[in-house]
Amino acid sequence: MHSFINNLPKAELHIHIEGSLEPELMFQLAQRNQIELPFNSVEEIRSAYNFSNLQTFLDIYYQGANVLQHEQDFYDMTMAYLLRCKEESVIHSELFFDPQTHTDRGIEIGTVISGIDRALQDAKTQWGMSSGLILCFLRHLSADAAMDTLEQALPYKDKLIGVGLDSSELGHPPEKFTAVFERALAEGLLTVAHAGEEGPADYIWQALDLLKVSRIDHGVRCIEDETLVQRLIDEQIPLTVCPQSNLKLCVVDAMSQHNILQLMDRGVLVTTNSDDPAYFGGYLNKNYTALVDSLDMTSEQAVQLARNSFAASFVSDDIKADFN
Ligand code: HPA
Ligand code: ZN
Repeated sequence: MHSFINNLPKAELHIHIEGSLEPELMFQLAQRNQIELPFNSVEEIRSAYNFSNLQTFLDIYYQGANVLQHEQDFYDMTMAYLLRCKEESVIHSELFFDPQTHTDRGIEIGTVISGIDRALQDAKTQWGMSSGLILCFLRHLSADAAMDTLEQALPYKDKLIGVGLDSSELGHPPEKFTAVFERALAEGLLTVAHAGEEGPADYIWQALDLLKVSRIDHGVRCIEDETLVQRLIDEQIPLTVCPQSNLKLCVVDAMSQHNILQLMDRGVLVTTNSDDPAYFGGYLNKNYTALVDSLDMTSEQAVQLARNSFAASFVSDDIKADFN
């Protein structure tokens, strides 16, 4: 079953590229850029990865991103992830990046986008892997800061497929970002948002109705609102679920209690994704095999998840037809 999953062509739709920065590369970049890390070894970094909720993870994740300074650093991080995709039969990926994590440290948004995009183009030419890039606004920062970030990114619009919303969810409802999402939509960008990870089902309603999202990232708390679940089914609104992340951030107490297969069996268009693989102990295949090991996922269900990943992606309809 594990090798079946490994060979199954898949798309990944919820991966924060800064969350793919492995401790080894973090250490290497810290040395290359003469940045002080509060850790003395790769082992020390790994042993700090014990989280009790989203915020305890974000604190350490933003700190790790400090080693990223130059275009080549963003290229190296992205290429490491794409090589991993190649090994795991991930043939299409839609990646998030957090520009404000970098621009707030004085790094030009163009440096960030160019480094990531150059790796995406190389993966396309070298092994035919397709991809898309989604700019995420940090929701713990202001709506004005998000609008300013969108303005800075517009000269690079041709390298983006959409915008998203991430970081600390509780206390930062989607409605805070209605104006900036409206502007992004007017610019022809698609929209997605993290909602219903730690936040209530109401945040999912807001993301749908106010931010006009095409997908919900996480969304597992939809289960608390039966009318919402029915809407997700009726409108086939995809959820990009991240099982291993949910376990590591204590959104679920045990993988055996995860609701992803229950939602799929009810007809919700769920997908499986890695979120921040360097921090949560595994890439995409690990997220599939965890469902086999803890929820007795069948090969038919694994194939359905892989099918859903293409159906929920932003690739064109004729390319989607090839994966059905
Ligand atoms: N939730 C919110 N923000 C994030 C996450 C997440 O799971 N990962 C990286 N930024
Ligand atoms: Zn995420």
